[in-house]
Amino acid sequence: MDVGCGTGLWVQEVAIEYSKATVSGVDLSPIQGTLQVPPNAEFYVADVTEGLYFDDGSIDLVQSRCANLSMAERQDFDVRDHGNAMGPICE
Ligand SMILES: C[S@@+](CC[C@H](N)C(=O)[O-])C[C@H]1O[C@@H](n2cnc3c(N)ncnc32)[C@H](O)[C@@H]1O
Repeated sequence: MDVGCGTGLWVQEVAIEYSKATVSGVDLSPIQGTLQVPPNAEFYVADVTEGLYFDDGSIDLVQSRCANLSMAERQDFDVRDHGNAMGPICE
């Protein structure tokens, strides 16, 4: 999962490289529209500070680049606060 995925390029590239994985991108803004989305990639428009609505244990790896730079003060996101969604590889 890519938190604050922006254009979604990381999601696209990882989904192509790891075709058996499901690769998810979450962002406030729906700016992923210009990408060709591989079948194993998915995008969600959501505010991650309001929660991550993934099934328990369903996320194996989280990446986030520069997303916190644009989060409002007091809305810092710590993925460790969403431990239920993290699978054992993540922990
Ligand atoms: C500087 S961009 C980085 C985009 C991408 N990670 C990259 O490295 O190219 C920060 C992104 O974080 C997203 N973002 C900021 N706050 C967010 C939030 N609360 N929930 C989801 N996405 C958020 C912004 O919409 C923006 O696309």
